[in-house]
Amino acid sequence: METRTCGKTGLKLSVMGIGCWSFGGGAYWGAQDQKDVEAVVNTALDAGCNYFDTAEMYNNGESERSLGKALGRRRPRAVICTKTIPLHAYRAALRKKCDEALGRLGTDYIDIFMIHWPLNLKSIRQYTSDPAVLNRLPTAAEAFGTLMELRKEGKIRHIGVSNFGVQQLTEALATGADIVVNELAYNLLARAIEDRIAPFCRERGVGIIGYMPLMQGLLSDKVSSFEELPPERTRTRHFSSRRAGTRHGEPGFERETLEAIKAIRSIAKQSNLPVSRLAIAWAAANPAVTCVLAGARNRDQILENVESAGSRLPDSTLKALDEATRPLMEKWGPSPDLWDNAANNRIE
Ligand SMILES: NC(=O)c1ccc[n+]([C@@H]2O[C@H](COP(=O)([O-])OP(=O)(O)OC[C@H]3O[C@@H](n4cnc5c(N)ncnc54)[C@H](OP(=O)(O)O)[C@@H]3O)[C@@H](O)[C@H]2O)c1
Repeated sequence: METRTCGKTGLKLSVMGIGCWSFGGGAYWGAQDQKDVEAVVNTALDAGCNYFDTAEMYNNGESERSLGKALGRRRPRAVICTKTIPLHAYRAALRKKCDEALGRLGTDYIDIFMIHWPLNLKSIRQYTSDPAVLNRLPTAAEAFGTLMELRKEGKIRHIGVSNFGVQQLTEALATGADIVVNELAYNLLARAIEDRIAPFCRERGVGIIGYMPLMQGLLSDKVSSFEELPPERTRTRHFSSRRAGTRHGEPGFERETLEAIKAIRSIAKQSNLPVSRLAIAWAAANPAVTCVLAGARNRDQILENVESAGSRLPDSTLKALDEATRPLMEKWGPSPDLWDNAANNRIE
């Protein structure tokens, strides 16, 4: 398994990262058998994967518990990342949330501790409407100052951010915090980070973890129409706001998304490769990407995804995939927020 160095710290991440959102089971992904989690974790470690990505939000902490249990004595081989929401980025709350995450993971250090979403009003109002909070948002100085304290104390090893745009990352770096990675949505159907954020991260030596490379299963051979997707997976701006659970209020880009998928399928057929293989290998081929972060629910999926991350696609195939998805990318515009419209974009 190829590893890539993150930022300037020497932290090495496997190009295939393991998304643990489904671990523990819950409303979004449904039930998740712990035996399958153990198979995913052990198969991933055996294949040389080290990055495991969880969050306090994933299944109300059950994802962290499930991951900690599955790693067991192999924990030292893992780079565990967990995240706390921006609502918890005040000093006392952040310290408490870090201790709670350590407890759930059953470890005495977190390798990368991230602020899950930016510290701005658009982002924090997703979690609360309490005016006391909205009138006194956590500042970058408070949040990243506290993370630096936690690092000094050895509770965390590295500081990361997730879904931070150029301005937010600039503010975070200005606090003096050494931010190793920015975790962002990146797949064939969501390429907005290519515009400004990815070049900026590269310039500033911040690694990129690209999440959702399979667009939650849509970029695979198993889904043939949007109607087959569970409603949780049709909430992004790709889909019409008529679909349940969306909040962007826009017509969506269903036609462009379907056309892109059709073109990707045709390239997969010509290449004699599964769509998921193209999707993961295409994301891994971007030199700005340190780690491609995919969820896997069982041993078969992780084996397939590991093989995908190790595949090299010919330049002609990469170019064809770029071209096939360019019309959607252009229609989508520069906003990297998957769920909110451009006016409510949280990633600035
Ligand atoms: N920082 C953030 O804000 C943020 C946001 C979203 C996600 N994430 C992280 O990124 C990780 C990955 O994103 P994601 O899990 O949402 O989406 P994803 O990686 O695009 O899709 C994962 C899902 O696709 C299906 N799948 C996996 N491998 C497959 C294969 N080879 N063939 C066909 N289907 C396959 C599985 O679901 P089924 O078998 O049920 O179809 C799996 O749960 C998450 O687990 C989480 O750790 C971070």
